[in-house]
Amino acid sequence: SSLLRSVKTLARPTTARAYSVDSVPSRKVTVLGAAGGIGQPLSLLMKLNPLVSQLALYDIGGTPGVAADVSHINSRSEVAGYMGDDQLGQALEGSDVVIIPAGVPRKPGMTRDDLFNINAGIVKSLCTAIAKYCPHAIVNMISNPVNSTVPIAAEVFKKAGIYNEKKLFGVTTLDVVRAKTFYAGKANVNVAEVNVPVVGGHAGVTILPLFSQATPKANLSQDDIHALTKRTQDGGTEVVEAKAGKGSATLSMAYAGAIFADACLKGLNGVPDVVECSYVQSTITELPFFASKVRLGKNGVEEVLGLGPLSDYEKEGLEKLKPELKSSIEKGIEFVK
Ligand code: NAI
Repeated sequence: SSLLRSVKTLARPTTARAYSVDSVPSRKVTVLGAAGGIGQPLSLLMKLNPLVSQLALYDIGGTPGVAADVSHINSRSEVAGYMGDDQLGQALEGSDVVIIPAGVPRKPGMTRDDLFNINAGIVKSLCTAIAKYCPHAIVNMISNPVNSTVPIAAEVFKKAGIYNEKKLFGVTTLDVVRAKTFYAGKANVNVAEVNVPVVGGHAGVTILPLFSQATPKANLSQDDIHALTKRTQDGGTEVVEAKAGKGSATLSMAYAGAIFADACLKGLNGVPDVVECSYVQSTITELPFFASKVRLGKNGVEEVLGLGPLSDYEKEGLEKLKPELKSSIEKGIEFVK
């Protein structure tokens, strides 16, 4: 812990103040699982985000090193590493946004639901600490199965009497990132201009990209749309297989997580018209949690946006995903009860 202290001291030199911009509010971001495959590059990307003034990196091990390393980058935020249960409270105290990539990733042949037994317990204990130490923070849930871990978080927060549905987000941004990349390749359009909403959930067929709403418009065949849809749904598995036992998407996920956290920070800071897809408490279908476009604001969710016009193929996909998503939600709720 003397190393931790020195990391904190290093992170508080006078030069740090010289970089801070007065008009940008102070914002503390905490990463839980910061020493992991996603956690490390995500911590790097959050260190590069000028909206962050304090960056707290927590894990069960390895965080002194990650924090010391990241803290040397000459960007605005102060960095501190926290390790183990007894430092979790400090990591969370005063946090505005808590990002959770803690837990085990998939190996080839596994579904996200196969991770439930280990990750559900991790998420439950981390959310119990969030309820205690930073009950008003925005939570970005990355740990899989997201379809269940978000309902788990909601139940933990309800039990603690602090649940605010506007502040709990399942991070589905990687599905959007993939849909944009794959669409741009197929449609031969500039990827930087592409927008594709992805709705539903974050596992297999529950991932429903709405290519009928993709811009810039392209005249893709139904076969192309089907192939793009499958590739988006199986994007995670593509990476799991390529990594052949060494984990799942970490670098693209860190990028996606950083994009989503940045959107949350912009919303908190009052930037208008910040819209991202996310898995949130929802009334746009009969399911209590659903991913769709969400407008972000000073209180988190400002508005859950509707699905917009769907093609027949997408309508079919929507009906097909509901039973699986429903049972994943129920499994999460049941776990806490
Ligand atoms: P990893 O195994 O490389 O890292 C996980 C980290 O969590 C480790 O450093 C571990 O020490 C830490 N950890 C475990 N228990 C903890 C606890 N109680 N408190 C704090 N930290 C704890 O795994 P990786 O690749 O970083 O994946 C993390 C999670 O993200 C997995 O559940 C994975 O399925 C999920 N994921 C989600 C995606 C999404 O789109 N939402 C995409 C890719 C992965």
